[in-house]
Amino acid sequence: MPVPSGYRIRPFEPGDLPALQAITVETFAPVAIDRAIDDAFPGALPGSWADRKAAAIADDCRTEPAGVLVVVDADGAIAGYVTSRTNPTTRIGWIANLAVGQGHRRLGLGRALLEACKERLLAHGMVIAKIETLEHNEIGRALYPSLGFREIARQVHYIARLTDDAPQDGEGNDPC
Ligand SMILES: CC(C)(COP(=O)(O)OP(=O)(O)OC[C@H]1O[C@@H](n2cnc3c(N)ncnc32)[C@H](O)[C@@H]1OP(=O)(O)O)[C@@H](O)C(=O)NCCC(=O)NCCS
Repeated sequence: MPVPSGYRIRPFEPGDLPALQAITVETFAPVAIDRAIDDAFPGALPGSWADRKAAAIADDCRTEPAGVLVVVDADGAIAGYVTSRTNPTTRIGWIANLAVGQGHRRLGLGRALLEACKERLLAHGMVIAKIETLEHNEIGRALYPSLGFREIARQVHYIARLTDDAPQDGEGNDPC
């Protein structure tokens, strides 16, 4: 599928990370599991869902930078991105995160990013591409099947609060 007119997809560059994190924080609030954790136990954790999600994007970019593709507009401004990881042992490629900024939505950029990501995973020897979405993410649930993804399982996330103590500075900051 062609990239929508006026945009192009290019590989990630290290200087892109802050823009990717900004798009992430802007777009993921309704669909972030970490947001649901904050809603269930306000103030229980150090930092917010946005901090943890931004850290997860940094982790994607650090772990496999070549698996990150960004889409830029005619001015070179980043409109969206997709992150992915290859696994030469299992040959299952994981599409970890995908987002398009609000001002660039519904132009076909999400679809183009996913197509480009699938092509890259194939070119790197992957046989299966895997992506997850939340049940209430209606966009993901429409978009992924339209690109050949088929549902194979559903998962339920549970959390339990282990202590009523407030977190101390520097404690528990691991994004995972
Ligand atoms: C998911 C996301 C990347 C899609 O980006 P996009 O560039 O707007 O998507 P596209 O324009 O390529 O749309 C592709 C398809 O997605 C679906 N879709 C997109 N926006 C939709 C909306 N508001 N309502 C319902 N379906 C929608 C449609 O099936 C659409 O195809 P169509 O335009 O032919 O009907 C974007 O909505 C986003 O960043 N969402 C927040 C983060 C997120 O949910 N990421 C995925 C986590 S699993």
